[in-house]
Amino acid sequence: MVSFQPDCCHLWNKALAIGLYINAGENPIVGLITFFTDESSFLPIVVMNEFAHSTTAATHYSATAKWLHWVMAVLIFGALAMGFYMQGLPFSPGKLQWYSWHKWLGVSLFFLVLLRLLWRFTHRPPALPGHMSGLERLAAHLGHIALYGLMLAIPLSGWLMSSAKGIPTVWFGVLPLPDLLSKNKEVGDALQTLHVVLNLTLLGVLLGHVGAALKHHFINKDEVLIRILPRRS
Ligand code: HEM
Repeated sequence: MVSFQPDCCHLWNKALAIGLYINAGENPIVGLITFFTDESSFLPIVVMNEFAHSTTAATHYSATAKWLHWVMAVLIFGALAMGFYMQGLPFSPGKLQWYSWHKWLGVSLFFLVLLRLLWRFTHRPPALPGHMSGLERLAAHLGHIALYGLMLAIPLSGWLMSSAKGIPTVWFGVLPLPDLLSKNKEVGDALQTLHVVLNLTLLGVLLGHVGAALKHHFINKDEVLIRILPRRS
């Protein structure tokens, strides 16, 4: 059951943060409901929560890791679908609107993956099941590293491409983002090819990732899929 408890007096880094956290069983979500003081910020509170977690051997993913996984999975499938759809549209104001939405989503995913990496580096994930061979473990680790790399590289290549093509990115139509490169058509075209190739690679890696998750669940009948599902506390 979800309950609300006062959580005060975090003294890590000599900071005092007064807040609330959602205590969902063994996985409190710290920082989502927080009263901010002038001196503290969202990030230190999140990090403190993770340091607290990383001292114990994890048996499943923390609620925040699960949220990041599934929210990003939905957004990534959305961005992929949008990217492939809008490419084929005839030139029109509607097409430009799709490009803007795609770019806003991509930049949001870029910031989300930075947060997720911070989370991952400060939070030990659960160990892989004992029945897996050395080769399967290696494949799982390499697959996860590839996914993190692609989650970073894809939005970054899009942002670089947009800069090189001389099209500014205004995040959600409000926040102008800096151009990462000066205008250069050849570089822009090369980055466009790179962006497509990286997305096709992501689709391939995801096919393996989802296939492996289903194999764990239906053939090995282990906890690997269950432990990342939102409902498990
Ligand atoms: C239907 C879609 C998906 C399913 C069923 C799924 C399933 C899973 C499962 C079961 C795990 C846990 C593996 C373990 O415990 O060792 C996992 C972890 C992970 N997933 Fe997914 N996933 C999906 C989509 C995605 C997408 C779209 C991405 C990003 C492109 C992604 C990136 C990751 C990463 C990076 C991890 C490793 C987390 C860690 O660092 O331990 N997943 N996924």
